[in-house]
Amino acid sequence: MKILVTGGAGYLGCWVTYELLQKGHKVRIFDRMCFGYPEEADWLKDTNVEIIQGDIRHWQEFPDLFNEIDVVIHLAGLANDPTCALCPITAREVNVDSTVELARQSSQKGVRKFIFASTCAVYGKGIGDWLDEDSPTNPISTFSQTKREAEEKLMILAHENFSPVIARFSTLFGYSPRMRFDLAINQMVSTAERQKRIEVRGGGNQWRPFLHVRDCARAITLICEAEQQKIHNQIFNIGHNSLNKRIIDLAQEIASVIHGTEIDVVRDDEDLRTFRVQFQKFITQFHFQPEYTIQKALQEITDWLERYPHEDPFFDKYINVLQFKKLRKIPVQEGGEPTAPLFIPLAKPVMGHEEEDAVIQAMRSGWLTSGHNIHAFEQNFASAVGAKESVAVSSCTAAIHLCLVEAGIKAGDEVITPPITWVSTINTLLNMGVKPVFVDVDPLTYNIDPRQIEEKVTEKTKAIIPVDLAGHPCDLDEIQKVADKYHLLLIEDAAHALGAEYRSQKIGSIAKRTCFSFYATKNITTIEGGMITLSNSEEAKYLRILATNGLADTAWDRYGRSAFLRPQELITAGFKYPMSNISASIGMEQIKKLHSFNSIRQRLATRYFYSLSEIDEITLPTVKDYVQHAWHLYIIRINSQKVNKSRDEIAFMLRQENIGIGIHFYGVHLHPYIQQVCGVRPEDCPTATKISDEILSLPLHPLLTEENIQYVVDAIKKVIYYVRHH
Ligand SMILES: Cc1ncc(COP(=O)(O)O)c(C=O)c1O
Repeated sequence: MKILVTGGAGYLGCWVTYELLQKGHKVRIFDRMCFGYPEEADWLKDTNVEIIQGDIRHWQEFPDLFNEIDVVIHLAGLANDPTCALCPITAREVNVDSTVELARQSSQKGVRKFIFASTCAVYGKGIGDWLDEDSPTNPISTFSQTKREAEEKLMILAHENFSPVIARFSTLFGYSPRMRFDLAINQMVSTAERQKRIEVRGGGNQWRPFLHVRDCARAITLICEAEQQKIHNQIFNIGHNSLNKRIIDLAQEIASVIHGTEIDVVRDDEDLRTFRVQFQKFITQFHFQPEYTIQKALQEITDWLERYPHEDPFFDKYINVLQFKKLRKIPVQEGGEPTAPLFIPLAKPVMGHEEEDAVIQAMRSGWLTSGHNIHAFEQNFASAVGAKESVAVSSCTAAIHLCLVEAGIKAGDEVITPPITWVSTINTLLNMGVKPVFVDVDPLTYNIDPRQIEEKVTEKTKAIIPVDLAGHPCDLDEIQKVADKYHLLLIEDAAHALGAEYRSQKIGSIAKRTCFSFYATKNITTIEGGMITLSNSEEAKYLRILATNGLADTAWDRYGRSAFLRPQELITAGFKYPMSNISASIGMEQIKKLHSFNSIRQRLATRYFYSLSEIDEITLPTVKDYVQHAWHLYIIRINSQKVNKSRDEIAFMLRQENIGIGIHFYGVHLHPYIQQVCGVRPEDCPTATKISDEILSLPLHPLLTEENIQYVVDAIKKVIYYVRHH
């Protein structure tokens, strides 16, 4: 048979692989190798062994993993109580989620048996004197709880051609090519040998079943080779009744052999985990008898300690929890553990019950597209940003388009914009036949540099579209001066700047036209949506007409309760850009929360500032004293002259640490297509060109916790310090 052994280079895996090879099987090992290669394993060069280095959490990266596999022996997992207690999220991810996913894949790929390495520790605070497979489980540690959870989920996956088998192992002991000294017997022998003492924790009266690692490997091989119906969806306790011991008795047994050993019963908390286990089911069905005694293991371990007199058995690589702690300090790229146990997204919408209720109400009203919420949202929005008028539309892109059309801007005209912007603005201009003219950005705020605008103005220039990048308002007074001088329309792209202020005036109340976005990740969202604010009611009315196909009235006006039905007048060639009534109902609730959302963003930005400011290799955002920042994004800059890795490499490393990062934005002028159609070159906007390869946005949204921010900070430090020294 061809057998996939996850964790095949581990303490037990080494012997399982050995046993399977002895029986003439072929073995594919899938192992993270985070304890190194088991150099002492004599099968390392065996042609019947194939080694794939990988993490079960990322099995998708190995599409051929299950090819030709008959049986999966799933040993990989986060082992033992202290390691799982250190990071319960990772324990669950590895021991439950990835395990179940692996089994599901196995089943789909035609694997017939899936043998899962569980533990007798699922009996935990044992309910009953002698525990067998029918006894209730009572796991009381994260480790045993995750194993039990996985057991239950695996059993459900059973079907005619797929047999999950649960093997509940005793606590293992003895020599293995990949040695562990954090297992009770191995630890006692090594402390007795090296320190002449045995420390007994938890009182010593607790029962545990033990089994030699090689006997366990043999037991697994028996299951692997058994007839399908014998093992189908079965649970087996793996061990032997005679090997149930009280911890104190075990310590005395070892101390009696290693002369001069003192037993130190530490009077700490009583260990509540005590289980004396029955192994009759497995012993009877498989005629299983252990071959290795504790005495024999004692000799093996003593030999090991003599063979490696300079090796410290209490060093990281022999103690799982220490190794795990060490791995967390190493970048994932180098085989370490991710800083954040779960992925921290760059942005996340915040929707509450209020939004849910509002949506349901809007749906039940029957007014899905046009409706009364739109007008109400426009009014609330206008008052929130201090504008006289607001026109709700389907997106910020639509908002900008309408402003351009309303201003009579047409093919052949030119519009000034910074290249550090979202592509939709440029697309809109190009689709209108309007030429985007790029003006470089300020090296501190990355907003359009007002001092460079004038030199780009020509007779064809009709408007300027500055962008309040990340939520930092542009220098509007300076831009307005140029606009006034050349009679240009100022359309402020405030997609990021809802809630921001410029010289104590709210964004939305300053420029002739301000366009906002309510895209899912923005400071407030309507799923998709946008708004134009302005001060002229007639112009607002016309913009509404343009947004509704050029018709004077909306469906709400035509068919609503107070409507007066008459033929519709088409006033101009308009667009279909209205906001839906459902979106507006969400917007109504979101705008109420804007202040609290932005306060959280501000607090998180301050946290980043204090935690990251001492890192030389990165530059933090500049905030001019004349603005109130909306903190839509937190953009840092990697100082390329101080770092020997590219921004993209650093971004990749951070992503591996489970940190969601983004690039806002890669200069539009750098896209070959834009260079071709607009005749722009990278050197025309040198600052934008440079920062395009250096900026990086960090996670920032109101759902981030202090812990999340700490993870982001720790990940940045880990990656930067690593890069600094390599
Ligand atoms: C600066 C900027 N302008 C405009 C837009 C377009 O907004 P929308 O997606 O609402 O069309 C975005 C969207 O991310 C943006 O970041």
